[in-house]
Amino acid sequence: MAFTPTNLTDWIRSDKYHNHFLIPPNDALTAAVKLSEQNQFASYAVSEAQGKFLNLVAKSIQARRILEIGTLGGYSTIWLANALPDDGELVTCEISEDFAKIAQININNAGLMDKVKIIVGPAMTTLPNINPNASFDLAFIDADKQSNVEYFIQAKRLVRKRGVIIVDNVVRNGRVADPKQNDPHIEGVRKLLEYIKNDSTVEATTLGTAGEKGYDGFLYAVNMSSIN
Ligand code: DHB
Ligand code: MG
Repeated sequence: MAFTPTNLTDWIRSDKYHNHFLIPPNDALTAAVKLSEQNQFASYAVSEAQGKFLNLVAKSIQARRILEIGTLGGYSTIWLANALPDDGELVTCEISEDFAKIAQININNAGLMDKVKIIVGPAMTTLPNINPNASFDLAFIDADKQSNVEYFIQAKRLVRKRGVIIVDNVVRNGRVADPKQNDPHIEGVRKLLEYIKNDSTVEATTLGTAGEKGYDGFLYAVNMSSIN
């Protein structure tokens, strides 16, 4: 079967079509998108279908503790925290005080203030200070791409054996694989891929996604180290 190339218009239509069957409207998520749009950063959040995917991964592994690096407006935070049991906890790191304030509004609006803790400050500084009694089941990395390796190393330290680490934006419209491209975000993804290649205690794959946020992808990794 031959496929003709498609474009963003087709991907948006396709996402909307599938979501209409599979993802019921959620007022708190809709409000979070609206508030993010008013603050001009909605486009950096994951798509609705990707948010649901994160939620389902968390449910599949019965996650009780989730770590997020890069809160932004809290859109993925809400999707993830909605998968937690009553006594579950999500810790999310955000560098910007302004974003954290907006995220907190969105999280409160979703009724998740008791489950979600926002740590404000550069994750490079705050993550090494996290030493929980219980390890995390799942980590979602979606912050500055230059620091992907450092964040991944910290996530691996904090996530239990066979816990999952998902990294956003590892395809970037195919530019990560294009040798002509060398901006620091793309280099940050390449360094992560190189790091994982040389780390025998992690198994990973890239899941390319084309949808309303364009052509990008998640890196899906499982922590196979025995230290946790
Ligand atoms: C960018 C960052 C993101 O996390 C994302 O999902 C899309 C774009 C960016 O920095 O351009
Ligand atoms: Mg992202």
